[in-house]
Amino acid sequence: MPLNMSLGRWRSRTTFVFALAASAVGLGNLWRFAYLVGDNGGAPFLIAYVVCLFILAVPVLIAETALGSHGRGSPVMAFGLAARRSLLGNAWSFWGGLACLTGVLILGYYIVVAGWGLHYAWSMHSGDFAAASARQVSIHYDDLLGSLPDMLAWQTGFLGLALLIVAGGVRRGLGLFVWLLVPSLVVLMWLLIDFALENGDVSAAGRFLFSVQWLDFTSESVLLALGHAFYTLSVGVGIGVAFGAYAPDRVPLGRSILAVAIFDTAIAMAAGIAIFPLVLVNHVEPTLGPGLLFLSVPYAFGNLPQGEIYGALFFLLTVLAALGSAVALLEPGIGSLVQYTRLRRVPATLLVGVLVWLLGAAVAASLSGRPGFGGLFPWLDRVTANFLLPLGALAVAVFVGWRMRETLLRREMYRESEGFFQVWLLLLRFVAPLAILVVWFWSIMPDRP
Ligand code: PHE
Ligand code: NA
Repeated sequence: MPLNMSLGRWRSRTTFVFALAASAVGLGNLWRFAYLVGDNGGAPFLIAYVVCLFILAVPVLIAETALGSHGRGSPVMAFGLAARRSLLGNAWSFWGGLACLTGVLILGYYIVVAGWGLHYAWSMHSGDFAAASARQVSIHYDDLLGSLPDMLAWQTGFLGLALLIVAGGVRRGLGLFVWLLVPSLVVLMWLLIDFALENGDVSAAGRFLFSVQWLDFTSESVLLALGHAFYTLSVGVGIGVAFGAYAPDRVPLGRSILAVAIFDTAIAMAAGIAIFPLVLVNHVEPTLGPGLLFLSVPYAFGNLPQGEIYGALFFLLTVLAALGSAVALLEPGIGSLVQYTRLRRVPATLLVGVLVWLLGAAVAASLSGRPGFGGLFPWLDRVTANFLLPLGALAVAVFVGWRMRETLLRREMYRESEGFFQVWLLLLRFVAPLAILVVWFWSIMPDRP
């Protein structure tokens, strides 16, 4: 019985690749990556991240999609199905559920930051930052974060958009949306880079991005690099499983995902090229930490000719990228609900939407300093990226690498060469689980003086 009948299928192989690309490119590329690189010593962090991306995150994402296309269902079902005859059957289904929950936890703060993006697109466009001083820019940011109703309005708008798309279903919602999204991302990025090269200080940006601060690169940085590699490809929350389940036949899984990883990295680099030359031409030290995007960037654009237009485009890009990821984060949970309960797609979407909204409201409350909500935002970010995503990845690596029969895996990967298959299996079985365990262990060890 084709289990995914109730959920649908992508129209083409390109749609499958675009969907994974839309899921991957997000706030991680534009907001999270930039401040992690800044906080963790620059180039050494960059190298650790790229290594983790290609030897850990890529193989695990391939495994997720292979699992999904084999099980042809939601994450919960894929694990359940493939584990049916194993003693740990129910425990494995539990991983699927945990993955869906992790998605909701990420969304809880993701919609908050995306809501800021929406707000900033609007105020850039209205000229709020024209010739603004650094002080005015920081007052603007503090005002937004201090006002719970404002934040709620923007993040509710953003979440509403994402829910509308997901409610449309796999073909008419997600499938159409990604065909609009991916080309728009490329065009917007192109315009912004062009603007930055024209108006910015490119050599200062190069010096800044490739500078090396060994002292800032600690053993915790390695964990952050690992976590971000999974985060940026959206690995460990069942998106690969869900999207793989909707894949048409004869998709070359391995090469598709390699392409997605390269595209995602290219967008992260392009974002650096679009941001730093502008920030540095104003002779301000780029703000490090999460504020980078919402302090340095509006200031830089605000003080350039045509800055309101390009600044608005920049935040439009941010919001669109975030939308692709938010939609992807919603799908595993909603798909699982549709398969496991009698709920139809629209009520399932609403149910997950309410959960995310409530969590998002709690995060906004914590940021605006309501007592009793302290520090929820950084906590959610850290726990999901550094613990829950690697945990999900570990489960997938062990399950697909060790519990699924090799003949089944070969069948899912038949479009790839034997060499590719062997390297993939090696990375999945041995390298990924060991690396995750070692990095976890290492990160709790104290730094040498
Ligand atoms: N990959 C997304 C980004 O880079 C974030 C994300 C993480 C999305 C995990 C889904 C799952 O912004
Ligand atoms: Na990403």
